[in-house]
Amino acid sequence: MNKLKPLQTFYWKDETFHILDQRLLPHQVEYLPCRNHRDVISAICKMAVRGAPAIGIAAAFGMALCSYENISECSNQTRLRARLAEASQELLASRPTAVNLAWALERIDKWLSQNENLPSQDIAAGILQEAEKIFREDVENNRMIGKNGSALVPEGASLLTHCNAGSLATGGYGTALGVARAAVQEGKNIHVYIDETRPLLQGARLSAFEMLYEKIPATLITDNCAGYLMKQGLVDLIVVGADRIAGNGDSANKIGTYALAVLAAYHNIPFYIAAPLSTIDLALSSGDEIIIEERSPEEIKCFENRVVAPENISVYNPAFDVTPAGLIKALITEKGVVYNPDQEKLYKLFAKV
Ligand code: MRU
Repeated sequence: MNKLKPLQTFYWKDETFHILDQRLLPHQVEYLPCRNHRDVISAICKMAVRGAPAIGIAAAFGMALCSYENISECSNQTRLRARLAEASQELLASRPTAVNLAWALERIDKWLSQNENLPSQDIAAGILQEAEKIFREDVENNRMIGKNGSALVPEGASLLTHCNAGSLATGGYGTALGVARAAVQEGKNIHVYIDETRPLLQGARLSAFEMLYEKIPATLITDNCAGYLMKQGLVDLIVVGADRIAGNGDSANKIGTYALAVLAAYHNIPFYIAAPLSTIDLALSSGDEIIIEERSPEEIKCFENRVVAPENISVYNPAFDVTPAGLIKALITEKGVVYNPDQEKLYKLFAKV
């Protein structure tokens, strides 16, 4: 993993996990070295790495870091396993909404329970291999999502997206932006409208960076502009990612997604969610059960480290909202496209795995 591309979210070298620091984009491409799982937690909490699949992958590598850190102290594997259980709980608590975090940690946990009685060194190597597998599979799944989604993108279409569900939010290629990438790779002429995505500007900083890097024609707009674009007939379809999809298809994604879905319904524009199966949480029967992360008021009161609102104003800053399944024309997954998602169809999708 030595050849770095600006869109490479992370790499592992010499028992260190390097995370592309997305807070510095688009101006600087710098990697944050994580030497233990606490460094990974800090990178997730401070949004150096973000995006549902990306934080899941980072958490899996965090478990590998924890095992390497504790090998010498825990020659006894019972102690190492206890340390790993603690680390898993700490990583899980770093962000609450994206289920990919729990999903990836469960994969590591499953590997641990299937591999009993191993020397500590082998546990560390095994966890690292499992983390690398999760990473690789994510990229493969995204390519399939792109292929499946591209079939829904007409030649000459204008696609609107929100936040960043691209290469940077995943192991690579992206989900929603993967659909745009695949359409372009198939020779379609398309145009992408990117919502800037207040307050942290994942659209302006990250999706715009990705589209320019890939030379995909794109235009940046303010979040407020989306409805006006739709009214003018300038949007043919909307494709966004998801952080957690409940068993009935209700989907949590970046705050502002629900408003887009309502606008899409009013203007009769197809609204799609592109996400891997690792984002679907069958344990939840509806979106009402999804925990929505609330972030610091400073993210709204400040702009580029400058205070722009009165000091004492009260602020509400939910990072995500939930779009009801009824507003979603289809879920685009690596296992196929699910039109009008509901509980029965989502259970059937998992039965295919
Ligand atoms: O707060 P963020 O930047 O982690 O939010 C990211 C999103 O909402 C993405 O759309 C979602 O995680 C899907 S990424 C493939």
